[in-house]
Amino acid sequence: MLRSDVRQLREAKIVHQSIEEKAKTYRLLVKQAAALLGSETDYIANAANLSALLYQNLPELNWAGFYFLRAKELVLGPFQGQVACVRIPLAKGVCGSAAASGEILRVADVHQFAGHIACDAASNAEIVLPIMQRGKVVAVLDIDSPVVGRFEALDQQYLAEIAALYSHCSDLEHLVGSN
Ligand code: SME
Repeated sequence: MLRSDVRQLREAKIVHQSIEEKAKTYRLLVKQAAALLGSETDYIANAANLSALLYQNLPELNWAGFYFLRAKELVLGPFQGQVACVRIPLAKGVCGSAAASGEILRVADVHQFAGHIACDAASNAEIVLPIMQRGKVVAVLDIDSPVVGRFEALDQQYLAEIAALYSHCSDLEHLVGSN
């Protein structure tokens, strides 16, 4: 089967799920995340559990996890998926670009993103959400998918809500001063 056919099949599987179904899944996920993160403040424990929650409940992912900003470099945190690059300089790759700008980066096809860092050859789409504390980026939540165009505006909307929940519930204060 051609690579383009495989991609189309994968896209069809996602498109098959209606917006309403997707929103319903996400509303449940937000509730679960709020319950999970609301009872703990340790930022590592919360990052570990949130990575698992997302990875287990969102279809078609091959990586979900955190990078923490330390001295102008992103350093790998808790994650689910294949082993990944440990350090990413600020402004490099999708993660470093999102951390440098403080903006969410939603990339439909990572092979079209100049400077994309390929940790897992299976990744084709990616969304990176900056984790903010007192208006400063302290980490990023990075989610990868083998499906081109996997992340839609709806995914971004709910994942942004979940990223904000993480930052609200977790003790990230000490990371603000270290950057
Ligand atoms: N693709 C990312 C690197 C991290 S891995 O995907 C886990 C990037 O371009 O920054």
